[in-house]
Amino acid sequence: MPNSQNNQPTASEIQTIFDRIAPVYDRLNNWLSLGQHRIWKLMAVKWSDPTPGDVGLDVCCGSGDLAQLLARQIGTTGKVIGVDFAKEQLAIAHQKNSSLFAPLPIEWVEGDALNLPFDSDTFDCATMGYGLRNVIDIPRCLQELHRVLKKDAKAAILDFHRPDNPLMQTFQEWYLQTIVVPTAQSFGLTEEYAYISPSLERFPTGVEQVNLAQDAGFVNAVHYPIANGIMGVLVVKK
Ligand SMILES: C[S@@+](CC[C@H](N)C(=O)[O-])C[C@H]1O[C@@H](n2cnc3c(N)ncnc32)[C@H](O)[C@@H]1O
Repeated sequence: MPNSQNNQPTASEIQTIFDRIAPVYDRLNNWLSLGQHRIWKLMAVKWSDPTPGDVGLDVCCGSGDLAQLLARQIGTTGKVIGVDFAKEQLAIAHQKNSSLFAPLPIEWVEGDALNLPFDSDTFDCATMGYGLRNVIDIPRCLQELHRVLKKDAKAAILDFHRPDNPLMQTFQEWYLQTIVVPTAQSFGLTEEYAYISPSLERFPTGVEQVNLAQDAGFVNAVHYPIANGIMGVLVVKK
């Protein structure tokens, strides 16, 4: 799966992975986080500072959980756009939302987080869950996010994080190797989930994320470790 030069998957390999895991993605997330991912996603939504009537963006929306949570905060007077390059994930996001008794005002857009198909200064708030670690060019992704946000708008970026505490580091590695990979294996997706550990190795730490956000032009950037540091939320303000 990863290309031979730097062991990092290419964009089209990442797209293929997420298209392939789309049918089981939600179930696996629920299992692997014991439902905790919803709490972490709610925290990210809150930190993105949404208000009723906003136009919100969820980058790398996948099957649409975070976009739905954001849309609930924004209400029916506003709208959310969920953008992702994996068609199969978007199809599930669309189907989940349209099967609600009252579908939320969300538009699903197929697009690249490194070249967002939106005008500059469009969005009042934004979220991104487990996307930043997966894009092949993090500085470019942050620049694009900065470009499409309105002045003073906030974005909250949730992802895995390497904890400082050595005990938690050991726990995280054990969890990924002993729980995540075998569980994914039982869904026939070993290779697709084995990539999490190396992607986390390459992923910038909280402080590095703050520096990258400042380089992208954000006036304020703070990284909050959560869940004993095994996850983190980078909160940025344009
Ligand atoms: C781990 S999933 C996260 C999905 C969802 N946000 C969640 O929290 O459950 C990462 C998503 O990022 C998307 N992705 C990765 N790189 C992308 C890019 N350059 N442009 C758009 N989507 C991208 C993948 O297709 C995938 O759906």
